[in-house]
Amino acid sequence: MLDHLTVVTHPLVQHKLTIMRDKDTSTKSFRQLLREISQLLAYEVTRELPMTIKRIETPICPMDAPTLDGKKLALISILRAGNGLLDGILELVPSARVGFVGLYRDPDTLQPVQYYYKVPEGLDGRLVIAVDPMLATGNSSVAAVDLLKKSGATNIRFLCLLAAPEGIARMKEAHPDVPIVTAAVDSHLNDHGYIVPGLGDAGDRMFGTK
Ligand code: URA
Repeated sequence: MLDHLTVVTHPLVQHKLTIMRDKDTSTKSFRQLLREISQLLAYEVTRELPMTIKRIETPICPMDAPTLDGKKLALISILRAGNGLLDGILELVPSARVGFVGLYRDPDTLQPVQYYYKVPEGLDGRLVIAVDPMLATGNSSVAAVDLLKKSGATNIRFLCLLAAPEGIARMKEAHPDVPIVTAAVDSHLNDHGYIVPGLGDAGDRMFGTK
């Protein structure tokens, strides 16, 4: 069982993250690095996927070989920045089911406002991985997990690139059953709800909107 918080300290993850934090890193590199890191983080978050044994024939002899068991996992992208993590993970787990939760942060209240929700059927029997690069206040993450639970999900994990202590605490309080996997825990949030030192607005940096 994963702990409530797992920080992936692998040197490749940390090196790539440092390049992403640098304000001079281009949109193109940022997007590529996010894709690469997402696959390394996915390795960790899928560590306990159920396995079974299946009989196959290698060119040499029959073999009882390990293979994934159970329903396909569901990846839920919290729009819009979640898509940057989604693409890389889908390369690794191409048969995953995919859902989207559209939430934006009201700039004044910092509270999440829902504008889109579409998730795969049968969430109850699947491992559900919600992805959003930045766990900041935790308001959108908590709201997204609330919605997923209402849709029947019982086995949820939250995957992010960077987390603030405030967001981790908020998630732990609201959803203690949802393990968080991240590449780093930063110092704090600033007055605008941005993670410090962070990497700025993940959506703007990956899509080049600012
Ligand atoms: N969302 C971002 O994109 N960046 C932050 O620092 C916090 C929330």
